[in-house]
Amino acid sequence: MEIKSMIYEGKAKKVFATDQDDIVLVSYKDDATAFNGEKKGTILGKGVVNNRMSNFLMQKLEEQGVPTHYVEECNERDTLVKKVEIVPLEVIIRNKACGSFSKRYGVAEGTELSIPTIEFSYKNDDLGDPLINDSHALALNLATQEEIDEIKRLAYKVNDVLIAYFKTIEIELVDFKLEFGRYQNQIVLADEISPDTCRLWDIHTHARLDKDRFRRDMGDVEEAYLEVFKRLGI
Ligand code: TMP
Repeated sequence: MEIKSMIYEGKAKKVFATDQDDIVLVSYKDDATAFNGEKKGTILGKGVVNNRMSNFLMQKLEEQGVPTHYVEECNERDTLVKKVEIVPLEVIIRNKACGSFSKRYGVAEGTELSIPTIEFSYKNDDLGDPLINDSHALALNLATQEEIDEIKRLAYKVNDVLIAYFKTIEIELVDFKLEFGRYQNQIVLADEISPDTCRLWDIHTHARLDKDRFRRDMGDVEEAYLEVFKRLGI
């Protein structure tokens, strides 16, 4: 496959066109940002971990019936994916209270939730990705009711598959963010699943093995990413 010009550069990834109209190449960077790009840094090796981990988990999800954008890993940082039209909703599933949920509702971090919760943010950097509900998303034509229903069904399915998998490597899935895209009239899982987009705690010690170490200046950021990578055994 021939790789053509860069069509987009995001905070953590670059996207390149290919000689096939419906396939793009995603290249994972070591750049890290938080708080809508206000905090900037580098996490050495992050691009490799996120690329390999995301591909590994997307293949697992495909096996369990979740359609994804994954096509083929090219090398440790680059992957071919289906060129989707991203639905501008960040889909967040939470199993335990943490982060903005804890702050908003005054619940201690780590509190078990009676049911897994789902919430949407409007994917819009200028507005700081505000929380949005189904009715607002419909009113703004961000997605149809059918698409929202499918996104919710798939997001809960992803949660079930990932909780079970992470348990086998002694990691607790506290919460995570997904993005979905439209591809040939189907909703497919897109973007990435990595320590950038999940809260991953060691089951025994509750040590944080994710980007919160960067967001909160906790130290040992690279080590946390490598620890997850090591446990994945990929
Ligand atoms: P939050 O508690 O800050 O709302 O984050 C919930 C989850 O979403 C957490 O696993 C981190 C992830 N996340 C992203 O992937 N990107 C973001 O921009 C934010 C704010 C959170």
